[in-house]
Amino acid sequence: MVGDNSNLMHKVSSIIRAQKRTVPKKGEKKTSKCSYKLPPGPRGLPIFGNMFQLGAEPYKTMASLKQKYGPVLWLRLGTSTNIMVVQTAQAAAELFKNHDASFADRPTLDVTLPHNYYQASPALARYGSFWRFQRRICTVEMFVHKKISETVPVRRKCVDNMLKWIEKAANSAEKGSGIEVTRFVFLASFNMLGNMILSKDLADPESEEASEFFNAMNGIMEWSGLTNVSDIFPFLRKFDLQSLRKKMTRDMGKAMEITSIFLKEREEERKKGIAEKGKDFLDVLFEFEGTGKDEPAKFSKHQIKVLILEMFLAGSETTSSSVEWALTELLRHPEAMDKVKTEISKVIGPNRKFEENDIDNLPYMQAVIKESLRLHPPAPFLIPRETIQDIKFMGYNVRKGTRVLVNAWAIGRDPECWDDPMSFKPERFLGSKVDLKGQHYELIPFGAGRRMCVGLPLGHRMMHFSLGSLLHEFNWELPDGVSPKSINMNGSMGLTARKHESLKAIPKKA
Ligand code: HEM
Repeated sequence: MVGDNSNLMHKVSSIIRAQKRTVPKKGEKKTSKCSYKLPPGPRGLPIFGNMFQLGAEPYKTMASLKQKYGPVLWLRLGTSTNIMVVQTAQAAAELFKNHDASFADRPTLDVTLPHNYYQASPALARYGSFWRFQRRICTVEMFVHKKISETVPVRRKCVDNMLKWIEKAANSAEKGSGIEVTRFVFLASFNMLGNMILSKDLADPESEEASEFFNAMNGIMEWSGLTNVSDIFPFLRKFDLQSLRKKMTRDMGKAMEITSIFLKEREEERKKGIAEKGKDFLDVLFEFEGTGKDEPAKFSKHQIKVLILEMFLAGSETTSSSVEWALTELLRHPEAMDKVKTEISKVIGPNRKFEENDIDNLPYMQAVIKESLRLHPPAPFLIPRETIQDIKFMGYNVRKGTRVLVNAWAIGRDPECWDDPMSFKPERFLGSKVDLKGQHYELIPFGAGRRMCVGLPLGHRMMHFSLGSLLHEFNWELPDGVSPKSINMNGSMGLTARKHESLKAIPKKA
């Protein structure tokens, strides 16, 4: 072991020496045309860099460094991962408006290597023609208004099930104890995606195949959200010290295997010409015929499987965690809860269900969701980007291959953009033109620019439909012993920034 360790230390120091050589010292004669200036940041420890300074909610820690270091922060994790953090709306505007293409790559992280997942994933794909093509397919075949409208009945069914499950859970819960609402919203989101993509309920406790898939996907989400020392110290990759690659290989393998069964079943159905349902996303992927130039002539089985898994991974937890935060804020702010319930009662009344086409007539509910996403973006750093080339950004020299985080959490709370930024005040959005579509850089929970969320139109719809239905169907109360002020509002950083303590609340039939 001693021998191993000294070998490792030797490797560490040689990497550090190599790194020092790439960043010229102050005053050193440069060979490049421009003078070399990095953004400011806290001094890190030798070898480890800033990795022990980030805490459980790194977006908060980084936001707290803004006052000292300004709009752009520089960190180093481990020996070789340089990170630039964009902390203000003005710096985000500069990035997305003037340099978007240079920042449009994604880093390849260790847990995305098993089963070559990263190669066919639209969210992780390197910036280029294959990514562009995948994005187009997703937009045209899944997220355009027409496609989303055609799948309204599917989401209706999933939300109805969610409301039934909640009622059942509430009836069997101990009096005054509350239920974990988000679990049901997550299952409903998962099923909405399952039905749109594969025409299947995949969060169905009665199907063994579905539960296995669901469990494997939960594993993938968990492993993807953990900090991996293999990414901080690439030379440790081969040791897989936290066994994350091993666990990912297992769960990704299981999810891929079950998806293969779904693909086979569908191929057989298609051969027999069974067409009792309309076309879903899987049919589209099967039928795709490309030019073979900038796009494949056909999707490979691997590409189809990854694309399917990606939709679940990108769409289910983001949506359910957004609904959880919004409901939590409403429970903390009874006056906002009254207003949103009154609006829903006026528009919908007691005799019918909340429908998706009600959303446009509910400006206060829309404001509640914007305000909640401002304070609690589910992806507080968006998805990490990577620079495609050396670039001069806001006077700093940023090297090709630098990891870039856009701190949407800090931007949403920036006092230069928002009055009383820490308070939950949906009213600030009434009559305001600020929207979530990536044009207003002070509110970017879905990101902005070329790599912004491709699923926004669907995620937006799912979130409003789920929250609206929860509010229309039930009156929500806090469990015994919990007051609005005592709710724990800490987040925990996983695949998304979920509430650290899952929300418990009591639904009472409205
Ligand atoms: C509340 C719901 C959602 C939120 C808050 C959200 C947020 C985000 C964010 C912040 C990004 C990264 C943007 C960037 O780097 O600038 C992203 C990317 C992405 N999202 Fe979403 N998302 C949501 C729902 C969905 C849904 C429902 C789907 C699909 C079913 C989806 C699919 C994707 C994909 C494929 C990407 C990668 C885009 C690319 O790299 O080109 N998202 N999302």
